[in-house]
Amino acid sequence: MFTGFRVRCARDILDFVMATGKTFYLETFGCQMNAHDSEKVIGTLQQQGYRQVESEEEADLIFYNTCSIRDKAEQKVFHRLNDYKKLYQAGKRFGVLGCVAQQEGEKIFERAPFVSLVSGSASYRKLPEMLTRLESGETRITGLDDRQTEETFETEFMARQNPYRGYITIIEGCDKFCSYCVVPYTRGKERSRTSSSILAEARSIADMGYTEIQLLGQNVNSYRDPEGKMSFADLLANVGQVGGIRRVRFTTSHPRDFTRDIVDAIDAVPTLCDHVHLPVQSGSSRVLKLMAREYTREWYMERISWMKAAKRQISISTDIIVGFPGETADDFIQTMDLLAEVQYDCVFGFKYSARPNTPALTMIDSIPEAEKAHRLHVLLERQKEIQRSNYAKHLGQIMEVMVEAMNPARGQIAGRSSQNKPVNFTTTLPISPAPGSYVKVKIIGTFPNSLVGEMV
Ligand code: SAH
Ligand code: SF4
Ligand code: F3S
Repeated sequence: MFTGFRVRCARDILDFVMATGKTFYLETFGCQMNAHDSEKVIGTLQQQGYRQVESEEEADLIFYNTCSIRDKAEQKVFHRLNDYKKLYQAGKRFGVLGCVAQQEGEKIFERAPFVSLVSGSASYRKLPEMLTRLESGETRITGLDDRQTEETFETEFMARQNPYRGYITIIEGCDKFCSYCVVPYTRGKERSRTSSSILAEARSIADMGYTEIQLLGQNVNSYRDPEGKMSFADLLANVGQVGGIRRVRFTTSHPRDFTRDIVDAIDAVPTLCDHVHLPVQSGSSRVLKLMAREYTREWYMERISWMKAAKRQISISTDIIVGFPGETADDFIQTMDLLAEVQYDCVFGFKYSARPNTPALTMIDSIPEAEKAHRLHVLLERQKEIQRSNYAKHLGQIMEVMVEAMNPARGQIAGRSSQNKPVNFTTTLPISPAPGSYVKVKIIGTFPNSLVGEMV
């Protein structure tokens, strides 16, 4: 599948890495942006002569790429550091990367004095220099962003970990400052890459054999081409027309910047997947205002109506926060009503978590934990029923599925539809279709979260 320059390059780096004998372990928490940043960090480390290993015990360098979106996510890295700090005596060195690193900065050295390097994502382009300092014995190295940088992190040393989906970050950072959210403080200011560099990357990953591309950004549709050549919808259409590319996904879209031409592009270009993730957060305009989301329920519903009126049937998913400070029983009912109105195919529900530096910290976190848990439970149960009926509509349909993995225990093959729905299917062929290939599957059974089928 992977040919030419890429293979030669990877082998050269591998020979170099084997010769130097330095090793690293990297664990990633959080969103797809973090997963993709890790692909760039791994490539950079390999280029610096490090070989990736599977456990903390085998590594010289132990890196955690962290997430701070909710308190629970943040605590994970401190648990890991605590579990493995004894390895410091054996000469291993620790680095904390990502959103907790940026948020906590030098405070991490106080809380975990055995950590030698702390870097937020906006400073990764300085990683080679930071690694050299680490190797020379420095113990308090920081790469911290001041929300000034205009630069994005583009590197030719990218170690793609997902064999079927090529990620491309098109916009970094966030300028929206929703009142509950850490991201504007952890990922720096909003900055887009040029459309020509994005299209060059799309063509290069198509040449490597990828057929699916996912465009990434905290608010992917807030994209502004620094060259002024393309709108986000134009960019989507252009990526969708790159030779060899069969599926283009994009996440996450912000309702404020969701324009009608995005729906038009999905209608016009068949390679653009018929799925949009459009986080609403709340169905109450009063709560949306407190959240500083910069749109009302009506504004959001207008965007939903554009998608419902499209020629293709667009699958819609969302994120919802329950128990935001001051969310009343009536506000919550409005969120439940919105669920019924939109009929989402997937909902990620979260209990509000108070976060450092955010304006919502000054509001009283008035909803007791038990009530937040109750609202989340009610929401997800209702959503399960909606999905049960949505997914049942696929019964009898024949759909194109990209094969992802085999599940020998269940005798099934796992894949995904263009709408991003998991499809588990069987085949009567003697040889199963290869991961990464596309097959036609007839749907013979449905669940609230997946479809079951037979290859035709
Ligand atoms: N940029 C995207 C979301 C990125 S964060 C957007 O604005 O839509 C992913 C999700 O985490 C958010 O959509 C939100 O639902 C959730 N989230 C963010 N901060 C949170 C907090 N403090 N407590 C609970 N959930 C939160
Ligand atoms: Fe956070 Fe709001 Fe930015 Fe999304 S738009 S990342 S929720 S601040
Ligand atoms: Fe988490 Fe940072 Fe992503 S806070 S969700 S890793 S942007």
